[in-house]
Amino acid sequence: MYINFWYPIVLDKDLTAEESQRVEVLGVKLAVFRDSEGKPAVIADTCVHRGGSLGKGTVENGNVVCPYHGWAFNNGGECVDIPTLNEGDYQIPNRAKVDAYPTEVKYGIVFAFLGDLPEAERPPIAWEAEEFDDPEWGKCDIHVFDVDYYYERSIENGLDPAHNEYVHPNQGAPTPTRDWKKEPIDIEKEDFASHFTLRFIRHKQGLLGGDAAGVEAEGGGELIVAGSGHMGPNSVVTWIQPQENTKYRQYFFEAPINAEKTRIFFLTTRSTMIDEDFDEDIMEINLAIAQEDVDVVKEINPIRTPNSNIKEVLVPTDAPIISYREYLKQWENNGWKIDWKKAQSMKGDIAFAIPSPGRRDSKGWVLDAIPLVSPES
Ligand code: FES
Ligand SMILES: [Fe+2]
Repeated sequence: MYINFWYPIVLDKDLTAEESQRVEVLGVKLAVFRDSEGKPAVIADTCVHRGGSLGKGTVENGNVVCPYHGWAFNNGGECVDIPTLNEGDYQIPNRAKVDAYPTEVKYGIVFAFLGDLPEAERPPIAWEAEEFDDPEWGKCDIHVFDVDYYYERSIENGLDPAHNEYVHPNQGAPTPTRDWKKEPIDIEKEDFASHFTLRFIRHKQGLLGGDAAGVEAEGGGELIVAGSGHMGPNSVVTWIQPQENTKYRQYFFEAPINAEKTRIFFLTTRSTMIDEDFDEDIMEINLAIAQEDVDVVKEINPIRTPNSNIKEVLVPTDAPIISYREYLKQWENNGWKIDWKKAQSMKGDIAFAIPSPGRRDSKGWVLDAIPLVSPES
């Protein structure tokens, strides 16, 4: 798991003005609430007084109030009131502050930047769904679900062109048309993302349709175009084009809850059947396909991606996965990888927080920053 990326936290529509929510991401707890302007605020969950859970608190005047002794914290993580001391008679200690994280609402999801990079150096929020506001496209409500596996296994599955034939009868079990010896996958690389597009041959009709006008492939079956890509460590898109004018896109925006569980925010869009009357049926199909993945990925051993590629036998169809792992390595070398084992060994003794941008400007932080893996020298 890596700091310095944007993570999906909650659906904007589920955040009320009165109550704070507690959410676990990257193995630490966060408090989420609406500030005095109604904007989502995400701060560390641990109250620096004596450890109360701010995420279990109430919200008054846009500040979150700790349920233990009523200290109030604003959207910047600063303590602004200690009601148990006499009014006007005390000074709020300088150290009475918790980490606060930048937030943005995109696709109806509250994303938080969990890291300490200054604004100009931050990666994009997630894979850009440029069709999201296009009236020529339909989209289903975001579906949020938790899975019992590590998010990197899920992203790698989304990037894997070879599993469709075996895992996805609901997509018509498409097989890449390649002769892998002659045509390795051409992977396009960007600063924080890599992606590819391939032609697949589909011998069976899938739930997403498209056989009528599909291009006949040699020897029967039909050709479809599909591809996928990741943005950062935690978002993956798959695009599927069964016909010239029929396009489906499936986005997984993922929040590692910890090193064993993941929360997935699932967005699907399509260029066909765009009326919202179709939403329910389309979602059912997409969830059936997603479930095919869940059923396989939850059984992968070990649960977390091995540290070294020699612990698996990777072949040319795994090129997108190798590319993704190269990006992860780069982010580890930036010093962004959480040292999960070290953090676990101190569990119960230390309250950790993901370091926030504020740590670059001021001192006196009470919560320990989560340990990070030292970059290779
Ligand atoms: S622990 Fe939060 S106010 Fe005391
Ligand atoms: Fe899949």
